[in-house]
Amino acid sequence: MTTSDLKQLRSQPVDQQPVQQPLYFAKPAAQYVAYKAEIDEAIQRVLNGQVYILGPEVKAFEAEFATWCGATHGVGVANGTDAIHLALRALGIGAGDEVITTAHTAVATVAAIEMAGATPVFADIEYDRFGLDPAGVDRAITPKTKAIVAVHIYGHPVDLGPLIELAETHGLHLVEDCAQAHGATWNGRKVGSIGVVGCFSLYPTKNLGAIGDGGIVVTSDPAIADRLRQLRQYGWVRPQHAEVPGWNSRLDELQAAILRVKLSHLDEMTARRREIAARYTAGLRDLPLVLPGDVDGATHVYHLFVIRSAEREALRAHLATRSIHAGLHYAEPVHVQPAYVERFPASLPVTERIVHEILSLPMYPELSDADVDRVIDAVRSFHRIPMAIAAE
Ligand SMILES: Cc1ncc(COP(=O)(O)O)c(C=O)c1O
Repeated sequence: MTTSDLKQLRSQPVDQQPVQQPLYFAKPAAQYVAYKAEIDEAIQRVLNGQVYILGPEVKAFEAEFATWCGATHGVGVANGTDAIHLALRALGIGAGDEVITTAHTAVATVAAIEMAGATPVFADIEYDRFGLDPAGVDRAITPKTKAIVAVHIYGHPVDLGPLIELAETHGLHLVEDCAQAHGATWNGRKVGSIGVVGCFSLYPTKNLGAIGDGGIVVTSDPAIADRLRQLRQYGWVRPQHAEVPGWNSRLDELQAAILRVKLSHLDEMTARRREIAARYTAGLRDLPLVLPGDVDGATHVYHLFVIRSAEREALRAHLATRSIHAGLHYAEPVHVQPAYVERFPASLPVTERIVHEILSLPMYPELSDADVDRVIDAVRSFHRIPMAIAAE
């Protein structure tokens, strides 16, 4: 749709406007269409091969992804939750240990800590970038604390400097939950390569997404990588010989082959996400909203484009009337959800405040400029300020 089409559309009364395709905050199927020929070829390669589990595709993907992250080893697992769960176990964390993390995350982060047998302890977040607040982490440290799980939420790195210092001072492991931040950089380094382990989800909507479930842990510590390989497959050190109690958490060949295709395009997909973010920013910056961006030289990979609005619910409803279905990430912080509220009570004022303000606008590389302008126009119409710049 061109700028003049959009202008014409906006000048029509709403009931005469054509019905528009719904836009959601993510659309993983669009990525298959974008890379169909290469993905189909990769699937055929696996089907025609001899090994369907932990074969050459997984091995190659692990090496390619680890190198891309700036780490030495990659260990594919069944999903991002297991990436955190098994990473904690590989670090020797379990019953009686406390792990500090954020409640402003997917429940999976906290579930993984409990799957490892450890106790989650919540710390509050910083208002400007949604990451763990180091002062809150400091207050939460006890003699039982063994690790900090820092979540690079939405695709923007947590400010890792103060957390590295705390980890060093108190002898804690710094675990990065990079499920939403493939390729984001902090101090020029890719997330995942900075803490002792980096844990990634490869769920279909993620910046690097499989066509099904998947996860990977990266590390530059060979002993941790070896332990992870044992834990993901029954504790085996060699076939049929278990030295430690393990799990079944394997990445399969089909997903690995598809992920290799998508990894080869990930930098261009991230560049497109950043282009879309810049277009949103140009189109929305004069409105009474807080917009995301790169903080302190870190680079955002815009897994989600989350704005803050004092009128979030009304804005969300307005967008829905235009078939734009913004997301909530997340509608409820983890510590107030029924599974946790009584067992891990916490007072987290910033977390509890922002949950009412956040709104995830559509964000995926396959969005067209016209799609983005349609969203901008809808947000501006809510504020009754017509679009002046974004589509020019
Ligand atoms: C921050 C975060 N951590 C962990 C996970 C868990 O990943 P998965 O769904 O692949 O288990 C997710 C995905 O939803 C996530 O967003």
